[in-house]
Amino acid sequence: MSNGLTNIAVFASGSGSNFEAIAEEALAGRLPCQVKVLVCDREHAPVKEKAQALGISVFCFRPRDYEQKADFEAEIVRMLQEADVELIALAGYMRLVGSTLLKAYEGRIMNIHPSLLPAFPGKDAVEQAMEANVKVTGVTVHLVDEGMDTGPIIEQEVVRIQTTDDAQSLQKKIQQIEHRLYPAVIQQFVEGEI
Ligand code: GAR
Repeated sequence: MSNGLTNIAVFASGSGSNFEAIAEEALAGRLPCQVKVLVCDREHAPVKEKAQALGISVFCFRPRDYEQKADFEAEIVRMLQEADVELIALAGYMRLVGSTLLKAYEGRIMNIHPSLLPAFPGKDAVEQAMEANVKVTGVTVHLVDEGMDTGPIIEQEVVRIQTTDDAQSLQKKIQQIEHRLYPAVIQQFVEGEI
């Protein structure tokens, strides 16, 4: 940490609305963090353009260029350490984190997921909730371990599913919460409240 800000990296694979929410809070000075880099595993992910528009560096890699996960994770760790990154926030990074990254950033990788974990882990959590006909779902922020959307839960917020909801309207409600909750949890974490 220099200048009183915690250096963070955001990992994302898709549209990047959570990345944008975190980066904008940090750039506006409302989050005591500097987003040093976006790490992206998909060449054509829209999140890359969002990072470029905000002047944030992008580290993009193609997993198929590496023999194994440990190889690209070792390269990522080297890059993160060079950039003095202290905390990693996964935001729609659709890949399991391996032991190389977990060891280097033990207890310092968090993830956001669009359900009340442990319900509906994995992909399509919003569709899973709709299909299960549950009355409530929500958002979870948790620390990352080697599992899929497992690891100690830091914070959760409930969303009620109305009879008029479809997957799209539910997704919209969930994302609105995510964009507020994730920066708030990151702030609590860097301020040592978690
Ligand atoms: C978010 O809703 C996040 O919770 C989810 O991916 C979406 C990414 O959206 N993550 C998972 O499902 C993790 N298993 P975004 O690219 O617009 O931030």
